Amino acid sequence: MYSAIPATDWHPKPAYSLQNPHGAFTANHIESGNYIYAFPDHTKMNDKKKAWSGRFTAGQDPAVERFNASIGFDRVLYKQDLALSRAHAAMLGRQKIIPKKDADKIVKGLGAIEKEMDAGKFVYDPADEDIHMAIERRLKQITGPDVGGKLHTARSRNDQVATSFRMWTRQRTDAIIRLIRRLQRALADRAGEHVETIAPAYTHLQQAQPVPLAHWFLAYYEMFSRDAERFVAARKRINVMPLGSAALAGTNFPIDRDFVARELGFDAVSENSMDAVSDRDFAAEFLFCVSMTATHLSRLSEELIIYSSAEFGVMDLPDDMCTGSSIMPQKKNPDVPELIRGKTGRLYGHLISMLTMLKGLPLAYNKDMQEDKEPVFDAAGQMEAMLEMAEMMIARLDVDKEKLAIRATGGFMTAVDVADRLVMAGAPFRDAHEVVGKLVRYCLERQIDFGQLKPQEAKKIHPLLEKAMGGAVSAMDSAIGKNVRGGAAPARIRARLKAIGKEMARWEK
Ligand code: ARG
Repeated sequence: MYSAIPATDWHPKPAYSLQNPHGAFTANHIESGNYIYAFPDHTKMNDKKKAWSGRFTAGQDPAVERFNASIGFDRVLYKQDLALSRAHAAMLGRQKIIPKKDADKIVKGLGAIEKEMDAGKFVYDPADEDIHMAIERRLKQITGPDVGGKLHTARSRNDQVATSFRMWTRQRTDAIIRLIRRLQRALADRAGEHVETIAPAYTHLQQAQPVPLAHWFLAYYEMFSRDAERFVAARKRINVMPLGSAALAGTNFPIDRDFVARELGFDAVSENSMDAVSDRDFAAEFLFCVSMTATHLSRLSEELIIYSSAEFGVMDLPDDMCTGSSIMPQKKNPDVPELIRGKTGRLYGHLISMLTMLKGLPLAYNKDMQEDKEPVFDAAGQMEAMLEMAEMMIARLDVDKEKLAIRATGGFMTAVDVADRLVMAGAPFRDAHEVVGKLVRYCLERQIDFGQLKPQEAKKIHPLLEKAMGGAVSAMDSAIGKNVRGGAAPARIRARLKAIGKEMARWEK
C-alpha cells in the first residue's frame, strides 16, 4: 500500500505569513479553494525601482501595478523557482559565464531565501510583481547587487516561469497519480468482497441484467486505470525543459541546458525556443486529465447518491461522511458525492479558461499567459481532495447484499437468458425476443414474475418455452452464463482481479 501523502504535499500552505510585520499582506486577500490570494498594499505609489525600469521615465501607477501583479498566486511556485535558479547559477559558474565564486554565493543566497520562505518569514515588498522578481530582489539584498544581479544572465522570466510551472505541475501530477492508484486499490478490494453479491444493473436507469456487484466496482477501476495512464502520458510532455530559451530566441551565452535539465529532473529539453516559451499545452492537457478523472468521479458520485436514496436503499455512506439538515431532523445528506459532482463543473471551467486564453495568442510570450496558473493551481488542489474523498467513500461504503439480491431476482432481468435458451433450442434470436416479450406481457398482466410462472402457462405462449423455462434461470445463473472475456461471470471477474493484483503490485512497489 502507499504510505499516506502528507497533507502539506498537496495542500501547499501560503509561503508568507499573514502576520507579516511589514504589513504587505495584512489586507486585501481573498481565499479561493486551498489558496489564499493576497495582494501587496498598492495604495501608495511605490518608489522602489523595478528590475526593468531602465527605459522608463516614471514609476508605475499603483492601480496598474496591482492589476499586473501575479505574486498573489504565483508564490506557490517558490520551491520550483528556487531550485531552477540554483541549477541555473551552478551552470553559469561551471560554464565560466559568471565567476565560480559568484555562482556559489548565489546558490547560498537562494538557500537562505528558501529557509525564509519555508518558515513564512519572507518579507514581500509592494514592488514584487511576481515570485521570480521577489526572489531576485531578496537575493540582491543578501549577496549584494553586483553578485545577485548576475543570476538573470542568459535567461528571461519567459523561460523561467514556463520551467517553474512545469516543475510544479509535474509534482502535482505525481501526487494525483498516487491518489488515483489508491482509489483503484479501494475499488479492487471492494470488488474482491463482492464477487458473489448479485446486483441489478441498469441501462436508461431501468433494470437490465443481473451482475455481481464486483463487476460494477471494477467498471470504475478500469475508468480510473485509464485516467492514471493518461496522467502518466501527460507527464512525459510536462517534463520537457524550456529553460535556455530565454525571452524567445535562445541566448548568446554558451549555456549547458542538458546539465540544468539533469539537475532539475527533466526528461528532455525543448527543441524550439519560440515554441518553448509560449507552449502551455501541458497545462491544458493536465486540465483535461483532471476533467476526465472528475467526470468518472462525478458519475460514481451520482450512482452513490441514487443508490443511497430511500427509493433504492441498497448502499449507505457512513454517518461521519454525511450531513444533517438544519430543519428536517430525519435527513442524512450525501454532501460529499454531491460536492464531487459539483466541483466537476468548476474543473471543466478551468479547462475551457485555459484553451480560450491560448487560442488567439501570437507567438511568443504574451501577458495573457499569466492567467494560466490559477486554473491549474485550483484544479490540482480540488482534484486531490476529490480523489481522497472518493477513496474514503468506496472503502467505507455499506452495501445491502440481501436487498440487492431481491432486486436482482425480481422482475424480468433474466429475459435475455430465456431468449438465449430458446435460441439454443433452435429458434432464431428475433423470434425468441418476440416470444419472451410476450411472456413478459403475460406476466405483467397477471402481476407475477418469471419465478411464479408455471411451465404449462409458458408452453401456451410457445412450445419451446416450457423447456427454456425449465429450472428457471436464477440471477446468479444469468451472471455465470456471461463467461466471455470482460463479461460478468464470477470466474472472469476472479481472473481479472488476479491480473489487477499483479498490476497493483507493480505500482505499489
Ligand atoms: N508573472 C509572469 C507570468 O506568470 C512571468 C513572466 C513575465 N514575463 C514577461 N515578459 N512579462 O506569466
